[in-house]
Amino acid sequence: MPEKSLTPDEKLQQEFNRWAAAGEGEKMESHHLDITAKTIRLMNLRAGERILDLGCGSGWATRLLARLVGEGPEGFGQVVGLDVADEMIRVARAASRDFENVLYVCGSAMQIPWEENFFDKVLSVESFYYYPDQDRALMELFRVMAPRGRLFILINLYKDNQYSLQWVDKLKVPVHVRSEAEYIELLKKHAFENVEAQRIPDDTPTPDDYQTKSFHRLDDLRAFKRVGALLLMASKPDLRTPAPGYTIY
Ligand SMILES: C[S@@+](CC[C@H](N)C(=O)[O-])C[C@H]1O[C@@H](n2cnc3c(N)ncnc32)[C@H](O)[C@@H]1O
Repeated sequence: MPEKSLTPDEKLQQEFNRWAAAGEGEKMESHHLDITAKTIRLMNLRAGERILDLGCGSGWATRLLARLVGEGPEGFGQVVGLDVADEMIRVARAASRDFENVLYVCGSAMQIPWEENFFDKVLSVESFYYYPDQDRALMELFRVMAPRGRLFILINLYKDNQYSLQWVDKLKVPVHVRSEAEYIELLKKHAFENVEAQRIPDDTPTPDDYQTKSFHRLDDLRAFKRVGALLLMASKPDLRTPAPGYTIY
C-alpha cells in the first residue's frame, strides 16, 4: 500500500515527536536558557498578563513566564504553551503539574487554536524558522494578539550568523534561512508596528571537551554564540481584529 503523504505540519509533528522521545525537549533548556532569559527581561512582564509561548517544546520557558505573570494586583496571569508535537506537549504537561496558570495546547502556529485579541505578549524561542508558511503564522499571531500586544521572536538560524548555517543540512525538516533585514520586512508587511531587531549573544562558556555534532569545530560554536541569536520585536497596532463572522441559516 502506498504510504499516505504527510502535510507539512504532520512532518514537523513526526520529527519533533522523535526529538521529544530522545529527551531533546529538556536538553534544549541548557542550549536556549541564556538567550531566552535575556529576552524575557526585555519583555517587561507584569502580573496578570496573558502570554503565548509559541513552539513551547518541553515547556521550560513557559514555566519561567508563568512565574512572572502569576497572581498580582492586576489579576491572575496565564501562559499558553502551543506546540505542533503532541509528545512535546505531553512532556511539558508532566513537568508543569504544580502550575495553575499554565495550559498546554497541541496545535499549529499556522492555525492557532485561540480567540482574537487575547495575548498581551508572545514569546517564540527557536521555532519560527520551521514554520512552512511564515506569512500564515504571522497572520495568526496578529489575530490572537491583543491591541498593542508585543511579539518577541528569537531565532538562532539566520543568514547574518554564518556559523548557524552549518546546521541546515543536518536538519531533517525544511527551514527558512532569512536575514535580519528580510525578517523585518516580513513583519512590516503584516502590519506590525515598532518592528526592531537586536542581537542576543549567548554568554555561556563552551568547555574544551564539549562534544558537538552541530558545528564543525568548537571555535565555530563559540563564534556562533558570540554573534548571537536574532531577536525580532514588534507590536500589534492599537486595533481589535474582528471576530470571524458566522452566517446562521
Ligand atoms: C527547536 S524546538 C524549540 C522548543 C522550545 N521553544 C525550546 O526552546 O526548548 C522547536 C519547537 O517548535 C515546534 N514547532 C515546529 N513547527 C511548529 C508549528 N508549525 N507549530 C507549532 N510548533 C511548531 C516543535 O515541535 C518544537 O517543539
